[in-house]
Amino acid sequence: MPNIHSQARRATLGDIDQILSIHRKAFSGFYLDEMGPAFLRVYYECALANKGVISLVAVEESGDVEGFVVGFKSPKLFYTEFRSSKSRLLFPIIFAILRRPSLLIPSLANIFRVNKDLINETDDTHTELVSIGVISKGRGIGSQLLRKFVEFAWQSDANEIRLTTNRDDNDSVNQFYLKHGFQNIGVEYRNKRALNIYSLKRSDLVGKEI
Ligand SMILES: CC(C)(COP(=O)(O)OP(=O)(O)OC[C@H]1O[C@@H](n2cnc3c(N)ncnc32)[C@H](O)[C@@H]1OP(=O)(O)O)[C@@H](O)C(=O)NCCC(=O)NCCS
Repeated sequence: MPNIHSQARRATLGDIDQILSIHRKAFSGFYLDEMGPAFLRVYYECALANKGVISLVAVEESGDVEGFVVGFKSPKLFYTEFRSSKSRLLFPIIFAILRRPSLLIPSLANIFRVNKDLINETDDTHTELVSIGVISKGRGIGSQLLRKFVEFAWQSDANEIRLTTNRDDNDSVNQFYLKHGFQNIGVEYRNKRALNIYSLKRSDLVGKEI
């Protein structure tokens, strides 16, 4: 087990600049990063202000944030609130699409997917982990954050945690979740990208230590 000097604690709005900076490095080239810093800032400000958010940062003794994890007890509540920030999102979306017209199709697909999820009543039964990232990989910081996230989710009465990650060319991340007891329960396709869906159920963990 690597030597970890960081402590995981709840994230606050004061951590947002460091979270954005880690997100941009850890998810470089992914949709949210491509939408630009202004869009990403609205996304994380909404996320951290959400009533059902579980957001943690790993902080070094120096005070530097080394990693973060964010998820929602009720993904539906988050997307409803995020959608209602349209006035703050409009210009970042327009600029992102003008800068890179290829973002139009994924943006429309995401709006369609969010609207569909909001209508689907059965879809809010699990806590969703939406992003986890660290500055330097392989030091155990991701594991520390994930364990704490799971602990907080069970404390908030969640019964299941779900997340998605790229299925292809992403072995280390898939191994990371399997190592922490998540089970692959299927595949979903977004804009031709295959994503593995992982689930961790509280009932599966009775008597086990991950
Ligand atoms: C996924 C991520 C958060 C893991 O955090 P981390 O601090 O690097 O992970 P840990 O050091 O706790 O590693 C735990 C296990 O994950 C696996 N793993 C993590 N990184 C790995 C790598 N680069 N190569 C191989 N295995 C790796 C290993 O199984 C490791 O087990 P070990 O300790 O027995 O070797 C981190 O790699 C990251 O920020 N990746 C970029 C962003 C991302 O893809 N996030 C997930 C998508 S939702």
